[in-house]
Amino acid sequence: MSKSVTVFSLFLSLFICLGIYAHAIERIETPHDFLWGVALSEYQNSGAACCSDSNWSNWEKFLAEKSGNACDFWHNYADDITLMKQLGINSLRFSVEWCVIEPKEGKFSKAALNHYKEVCNALINAGITPMITLHHFVHPQWFEEKGGFEKRKNIKYFERFCVVVFKHLGDCVSLWCTINEPTIYAFQGYIRGVFPPGKTGRFPSAFRVLCNMLEAHTRVYHSLKALPHGDKAQVGFVHQYLVFQPYTSWNPLERIPGLLFNNLLNKSVLHFLKTGAFKVGIPILGSITYQAPPEKPIMDFIGLNYYSRALIKAQLSLTEPLIATHYPDEVMTDMPYAMYSQGLYKAIKDINQLKLPIYITENGIADANDDRRETFLREYLSAMGKAIAEGCDVRGYYYWLLMDNYEWDMGYSMKFGLYAVNRKTQERFLRPSAHYYKTIIKQTGDLA
Ligand code: BGC
Repeated sequence: MSKSVTVFSLFLSLFICLGIYAHAIERIETPHDFLWGVALSEYQNSGAACCSDSNWSNWEKFLAEKSGNACDFWHNYADDITLMKQLGINSLRFSVEWCVIEPKEGKFSKAALNHYKEVCNALINAGITPMITLHHFVHPQWFEEKGGFEKRKNIKYFERFCVVVFKHLGDCVSLWCTINEPTIYAFQGYIRGVFPPGKTGRFPSAFRVLCNMLEAHTRVYHSLKALPHGDKAQVGFVHQYLVFQPYTSWNPLERIPGLLFNNLLNKSVLHFLKTGAFKVGIPILGSITYQAPPEKPIMDFIGLNYYSRALIKAQLSLTEPLIATHYPDEVMTDMPYAMYSQGLYKAIKDINQLKLPIYITENGIADANDDRRETFLREYLSAMGKAIAEGCDVRGYYYWLLMDNYEWDMGYSMKFGLYAVNRKTQERFLRPSAHYYKTIIKQTGDLA
């Protein structure tokens, strides 16, 4: 090989290395005490084996793929905390499972409450701040049989459960999320029918459920704040900011459902968060309203879940007239939506108008080949960084999620995890892309 070729290749490699390095060390300026975390939910990580008599364990009977014991987080939490430490995160958002804590109406399990106390203490000892979600799509079957959130009179059961949990854990946990994504719960369970109770096209029920969940959130917020440690607790509402966009802007078959879903699943809730007033409805079918007690705050922070936007396309089919899709030049995730980091920026800017602290309580990508996750993280984190640089009050970011888990109606096919899991041996394997998240967290720490 000639000398000039060797020198050229040396320069080229140096250039490439510098390029890669420069790419890897993009900086995100975050506020002091920023929480870098991962999020997960008990049911998705411990499965029906743990939460056996719930709306979800019963619904699974109709699904091809069962959750089993998932990644058995219930028993493996101590080792999983070690994995979290290895990532360098300083917060975990997780849900406590109502059906385990109150398996029979009014009968609370001391053992389950103690289990969660142990999890919280183990996290705190590892320097990881717990953030608890009180309802993440799952509740006891007895509550479901009473009509769940479709009945306003059932809110009191949820409120009582939340108070019991807070009394047990309020001394060591200061970050609380009441209900995860009420809009998605209502949409999947009462319009698409892919979550329990599996009702399809039941718009009035979906409105009722959403309305009752917002009232439940408000009542729980006020109850928790009135308890010992309540004054120090930060109690928030978790909203999935999901915008529906017609594939072709002039097509009424895409535009009209888009407007309807935007109103039902985003705007009505944002309006409620801003004003305490909720109103949703469809002409002819009627509307439903709720007014939170005026002059009182209804949350201390907003939990923003963001994945993508829903690009909807009409097709000639009576059973599925609308499908979620993507434009040809977009990079798809394994879910039926593309990467869309601009949407996260827009969502933060919009939510920031509430003038409350924001936590990105979920953001992640299903990527079985692990060939898009690093780009996803780079783009979405840089979108968040841009919003922070422009003054948005973002206090934390939680990647969804620690390890591959049960993705509801999609079973185990969707791989969101920073760790892959061998479910036979319960071994966890760090995915290469997780190094990027680790590096970002470390650099931000070094900058602080
Ligand atoms: C839910 C999670 C779910 C994730 C990814 C969110 O809507 O809160 O439970 O796994 O999206 O689809």
